[in-house]
Parts: sequence; structure tokens; C-alpha cells
Amino acid sequence: MAGKVITVAQQKGGSGKTTLAAHLALGFRGMGLRVGLIDLDPQGSLGRWYVTRLEVDATLCDGIEFATASAWGIPIEVRKLSAACDVVIIDTPPKIDSDLRPALRVAQLVIVPVSVGHMDLWATEGVLDLAARENRPALVVLNRTRAGTRLAGEVLTAARAMGAPVAEAVLAQRVGYAEAMGRGRGAAETRGPAQDEVAALVAEVAARLQTG
Ligand SMILES: Nc1ncnc2c1ncn2[C@@H]1O[C@H](COP(=O)(O)OP(=O)(O)OP(=O)(O)O)[C@@H](O)[C@H]1O
Ligand SMILES: [Mg+2]
Repeated sequence: MAGKVITVAQQKGGSGKTTLAAHLALGFRGMGLRVGLIDLDPQGSLGRWYVTRLEVDATLCDGIEFATASAWGIPIEVRKLSAACDVVIIDTPPKIDSDLRPALRVAQLVIVPVSVGHMDLWATEGVLDLAARENRPALVVLNRTRAGTRLAGEVLTAARAMGAPVAEAVLAQRVGYAEAMGRGRGAAETRGPAQDEVAALVAEVAARLQTG
């Protein structure tokens, strides 16, 4: 895998874009890959996560490069980072407009988190349309699922009806994700169920990148 680019996008705020971007980065790093992160969101959450991580222990950021970019600067940053990294992950702001296009255009895979509890699905069609217009494959990832509720099944059915592939791996609603992110860490860095779900997601995404 060399210089593959993943863009995480979803119009709906709080769907888990930044959480997914960070956990995918840690997952790929755990596979021994060099990872580049680009924060396109002026809120800068991914950057704050990275800086917090650096402050905790700079070696935790070994193998992870970080950059910010404006929409028009994306191709330049991607070119720089993909020269040094196996995979580049772009976190985007919660809106879809023409500013998102450059970030979609450079991607081999567009990951669209859908926060199940919040019915983000209604906001999903727009980003799927935009990815399709740029001829980019998308993958919907269900986030904040709750075991034993019907909602995840309903959202899954509705997502499939939109014609989008939906990842088999899901991230459950776990306070560990929020807590870990606040400490510059990943929920899968401590033993527990998040480890398995993140590993499953990373494996699925890696497989798509290899065939894509
Ligand atoms: N699986 C999860 N379980 C519990 N909390 C989660 C989960 N995923 C995300 N969260 C929490 O939900 C909130 C929103 O997540 P996050 O910041 O990743 O979303 P976002 O799509 O990047 O938001 P924005 O659109 O503002 O950039 C955060 O407080 C985060 O910790
Ligand atoms: Mg975010």
C-alpha cells in the first residue's frame, strides 16, 4: 500500500468523522504503516488530538505525520504526505459544498460515518452524491451503534437502499471513544471491545484500498 488517500466526510456534525480518522490512523500505524493526517476542518479537533498526543509522549506520534490544509491546498499537502506515508487520512468539516470537492477528488476511498443514534442518514445522500460525481468509491460506516436496538438494522437497510456499500464493521456507542480522544489516545489502545471493532474496521478498509 503506497500513498493511498482516505477522505472522511459527512455533512452532519458530530457523526464521528474525527473519531474515525484518528482511530483509522492508529489502526494503520499498528499495522506498521506510515500514516499522514490532514485536518481540513477549521475547528481543528484532529490537530488538537494530535498535539495532545504529542504532549503525552512524543513517541506516540512516531509514524504519524500531521498537516492542516485549506480546501485548495489539499492536493499540495496530499502530494507531500503521500511521498512519505503509506496512507493519508483527511478529516473534513461538517458541510458539503464545493470546498469538499478537492478532498474527495484526491481520495481512493471516501468514508462516510453515520451516527446511528442521531439518524445522520438523512444527511448522507448529499456526500454520497458528491463522491459519485467525483467518481470516488464511498463506504458508509455505522458509528455509535447500540447492541440490542432495532435502529442499527433500520439504518443499515436505509443506507443499502441508497446504493452505498456499508462496512460490516461498526463502532459501538462507547464512552471509551470520547475519553480516549480527549487524552490524545485511541479507545483501541487499551484492551477491551473497542480493540476488536477498530481492528475489524481497519482490516476492512485496508482490503478496500488494496482492491480499489
Ligand atoms: N462510537 C462513539 N461512542 C461514543 N462517543 C462517540 C463515538 N463516536 C464519536 N463520539 C463522540 O461524539 C462526538 C462527535 O464525534 P466527532 O468529533 O468524532 O464527530 P465529527 O463528525 O468529527 O464532528 P464535527 O462534525 O463537529 O467535526 C465527540 O464528543 C466524540 O467523542
Ligand atoms: Mg470533526
